[in-house]
Amino acid sequence: MEKLYCGKVTEEYINNIVNIKGWVKKIRKMGSISFLDIADRYGLVQVIVDEHINIEGLTRESVVEVTGTVVARKTPNDKIPTGKIEIKCETLTVLSFAKTTPMIVEDVTDALEDIRLQHRYLDLRRDIIRNKIIFRSKFINELRAYLVKQDFIEVETPCLAKPTPEGARHYIVPTRNAPNHFWALPQSPQIFKQLLMVAGFLKYFQIAKCFRDEDLRADRQPEFTQLDIEMSFVNEKDIMKITEYMFRRAIKKTLNINVWAPFKVMKYDDCMNYYGCDKPDLRYDLKLADLSKYFVGTNFRIFDSILKDNGVIKGFAIDQIVMEKKDFETVQKYATDKGLQVAYLTFKDGKKVGGSITNVIEDDKANSAFANFNFTTGTLILCGGKLKKVNDTLGAARIACNNVYKLADPNALAFTWVTDWPLFEYDEETGKYAAAHHPFTSPAIKSLKDFDTNKDRARARAYDIVLNGYEVGGGSIRITDTEVQKRMFKAIGLTEEQAKAKFGYLLNAFEYGVPPHGGIAIGLDRLIMILTKADTIRDVIAFPKNSHGVDLMLDAPSAASAEGLDDLFLQVKEK
Ligand code: AMO
Repeated sequence: MEKLYCGKVTEEYINNIVNIKGWVKKIRKMGSISFLDIADRYGLVQVIVDEHINIEGLTRESVVEVTGTVVARKTPNDKIPTGKIEIKCETLTVLSFAKTTPMIVEDVTDALEDIRLQHRYLDLRRDIIRNKIIFRSKFINELRAYLVKQDFIEVETPCLAKPTPEGARHYIVPTRNAPNHFWALPQSPQIFKQLLMVAGFLKYFQIAKCFRDEDLRADRQPEFTQLDIEMSFVNEKDIMKITEYMFRRAIKKTLNINVWAPFKVMKYDDCMNYYGCDKPDLRYDLKLADLSKYFVGTNFRIFDSILKDNGVIKGFAIDQIVMEKKDFETVQKYATDKGLQVAYLTFKDGKKVGGSITNVIEDDKANSAFANFNFTTGTLILCGGKLKKVNDTLGAARIACNNVYKLADPNALAFTWVTDWPLFEYDEETGKYAAAHHPFTSPAIKSLKDFDTNKDRARARAYDIVLNGYEVGGGSIRITDTEVQKRMFKAIGLTEEQAKAKFGYLLNAFEYGVPPHGGIAIGLDRLIMILTKADTIRDVIAFPKNSHGVDLMLDAPSAASAEGLDDLFLQVKEK
């Protein structure tokens, strides 16, 4: 008797006695015999049960053991690997009865996400979700295999630590050993990996858990996983090259897709000017162009006054699609979130034929603006105002157009690097500058002289890797000169004492021989979400939090007991 997984029983076992174990997926009675579909993660196999075997009360999702003879099916099913055979049941043992499940445990289920997450073990039993987790395991193993082969050392760094400088809020952890003192969970292993470079490891990586108490989105979780990398004696190009090799190899091995290299490289300013965002989806074009020159002297008062006020008129064109008003309204809704209105004009054979501002804009001006794109029929989306807001607004309109017209090839993988980032971010509310990446990111060589006095213009030796409109990774070459680091801390408003209290251990370490170094961290959940075409990051994490940061299965976070709090010298303040 051969013990087999359900999905592995094929025609080579015909006339053999086999033993399988799995979950009952379907029970169909046909007269005196019944057909059971029994499945495990390798697939399902059909079992025929005659009246000698009692299956009274057997429920779907129960776990059973079946022993029987493999026979050829009269009507084979080509769609499944076990479709040519079935098992004639000789004994059936119920190993575990299942109650009626709170959701349909099939790929197509009408269960709400909250129900799925509350019973995640059932949700994970659905092939459509379980296969994503299996893919995740295989993909991460390929990344690891590559790095190990390149002689990277995998090092685990602590989760109980001190605040790290990634810019989000920390989770803090009390301890009964130190009243009134708290650990912080790391937002990334940033400082540890830099210390490993001081320690001479040369090439480090880690599949690292990171914790950020930030507002959640479809591509964010409070607890997520990075592939964290750091290398000594490297520049930007070295890090980019190794990342490209690693991605291309793992994608080829797991999905059998060839990704072309080298990846596109775009400067941050070009990205904003051409795509209106710092993580452009390059699977479709819709490139923004400055069209101001075509509207100089227009009778359309709004455009005219924008141009006189040193503003710009920019736009992008969609080839062959003559936009309808209802679609424009959808686009407008997304665009105005970024602060400005957009307008549209439609064209046939190079001539304006309609749109929201067709009655107020001169034909010749509109036609020549559209001709800029070398299309004859299509739609022009326009926006006027100050450059930054115009870019942001058109960037959102560009994404909205893709959502409406499905322009992106769902099978394409469009990688791009974004480089030459601003070193600082200005916060209009607080009037303060913060490090755009983190404060250990080296200023660009050309900014070294004056990055702290010319903050708006200062550039960083930072790079992001973008895939299909998502930031899937980011990194930088680090500051290793103590003087530059001190200037950096000062530039973001930290006094010498504050810098010492927060990051003194790093500064101390740099006093004892630090190699130049740099690295990158890849957001694995996000990357795997894209590669598996999942709708949200939650689908590729075995036990995720919901969109409000709650684990519905554990019902956590939850209140702590009075004794527990006492032990920690903590008191809860009423909300
Ligand atoms: P950064 O903060 O850019 O860099 O993070 C790297 C990548 O991690 C992913 N990511 C997230 N994924 C899911 N949920 C989140 N809340 C979340 N936040 C970030 C993104 C992002 O590109 N220490 C630096 C790296 C370095 O400089 O080497 C860092 O953490 O895909």
